[in-house]
Amino acid sequence: MIPVEDRASIPDHATATAAAAGATHHWRISLSSPDIDHHDRAAVDAVLRSGRLAGGPATEQLEQLASDTFGRPTVSCSSGTAGLILALRALGVSGGEVITPALGFIATAHAIRAVGAMPRFCDVDPETLCVGVEQLEAAWSDDVRAVIPVDLLGVQVPIDAIVEWAKHRGVPVIEDACEALGTRQGGRPCGASADAAVFGFYPNKIITMGEGGLVSCRDQALADRVRQLANQGRTGAGFAFEGEGYNFRLTEMQAALGGSQWRRLDSLVERRQDLAHKYLERIESISGICAAPTPAIHVEGDRRSWFAFVVLLEDPRWRAPLCKALTEQGIETGLYFPSIVSFGPYDQAPAAALLCTEQRSPRMLALPLHPRLKPAQIDEVVTTLEELLGRIRLKV
Ligand SMILES: Cc1ncc(COP(=O)(O)O)c(C=O)c1O
Repeated sequence: MIPVEDRASIPDHATATAAAAGATHHWRISLSSPDIDHHDRAAVDAVLRSGRLAGGPATEQLEQLASDTFGRPTVSCSSGTAGLILALRALGVSGGEVITPALGFIATAHAIRAVGAMPRFCDVDPETLCVGVEQLEAAWSDDVRAVIPVDLLGVQVPIDAIVEWAKHRGVPVIEDACEALGTRQGGRPCGASADAAVFGFYPNKIITMGEGGLVSCRDQALADRVRQLANQGRTGAGFAFEGEGYNFRLTEMQAALGGSQWRRLDSLVERRQDLAHKYLERIESISGICAAPTPAIHVEGDRRSWFAFVVLLEDPRWRAPLCKALTEQGIETGLYFPSIVSFGPYDQAPAAALLCTEQRSPRMLALPLHPRLKPAQIDEVVTTLEELLGRIRLKV
C-alpha cells in the first residue's frame, strides 16, 4: 500500500508527458502512471549524496536481483531498444532478416534496422495476439538470421515451442519481454528461456527507472559480450577496448530506482492483476466489446504482467469517436498497437500474410491501467465507455 503522502506528491505522469509534448491536457484518469514511493526516493537520494553516479553498487545490485530472478546472467543497459540492439549484435546479427510480429511497438523493428538487418514481419495468433511457431514458420525465409517474438501486453509467447523450433531452424531467439516483467509460464519467470530476453523500464512499464533496460542472457559468454558492447567495447576493468561498442550504460540513479522498485515487483503485478480482473468482470456484460487478448483459462503457475488492459471493439469505426469522447471526459486511452507495416520504411519490408494483425489492430483500444488506479475509477471508465458506445453505435 502506498502512503497517501507519497501518492499526493507525485505529479501526474500523463500530464507531465503531455506537458513535455507541448500539450496542456490534464487527464483525470491517465492511461499509465509510475508508482514511486518513499523507498524509491530515498534510494535515488542516497546515490546523489554518494557522488558515484555511474558504474557503481546500485547497478551491481540491480543486476544481481535480475540475475537471481531469471536464474541466469543479466546485464543492464540504457533502454529496451538499446537492449534489443545489444542482443542482436552480441548474437552476431548484422545483416539478413529478422522475423518479428507486425503487431507490436515500433522499437523492435528500429532495433533490427539499427544493426543493418531487415525485419520480416509475421502475423500473430488471434487468441493471444502473440506470435507462435505457426506464424514464425509461415514467415520463414533462408535470409533469416534471428527471430524476435514479442510478449505483447504482458502475455508471454509459447517460448519453449519457439526455442525448440528455432533450434531446428538454426537461428537464435531474442525475446522482446519489454512489457512482460513479472509474467510467468508454468512457474518459470518470463526472461529465463530464450537466448536473450530484453526488458524495458520506461515509466509506463511494470516497474520503471525513467528509462532503462536489461538483457537476460543464456550464458556468461553472451552476457560478457553484451556488457562489452554496452560499454564502448571495454574488455575489462582497465583502459582496454576491442571491436565495436556503444555507450548504452545505465546511471546509478536509474539503477537505484529500478532496484527499489524490483523489491515490490510481485505486489505491483498483483495490483495490476486485481484491477484487470475488475475490468474483466465489468465488461463481460457489454455487447460489442471484449478483452484482447482473450483471457486464458487459468493455468497453474502462469501469471500475466498486465502491461495494459486492451478492449477489442466489434466495429473499428467506433474507435476514433470513442477515443475523442473519452478524452473530452478526461479519460486517457491508447491506440495499442498500430501495425508496424503501416509506417515507413516498414511498409516496404518483407512480410507474411498479416490477416490477424490487420483485422485486430484498428479495433484495439487500451484503457487506463496502473497500480495507482482506484477500483472506483475503473467503474467510471467502464460506465462512461458503455454510455458512449450506446450513442456512437447509433451514429456510425
Ligand atoms: C514491446 C516493446 N519493445 C520495445 C520497447 C522499447 O523499450 P524502450 O522504450 O525502453 O526503448 C517497448 C517500449 O515501449 C515495447 O513495449
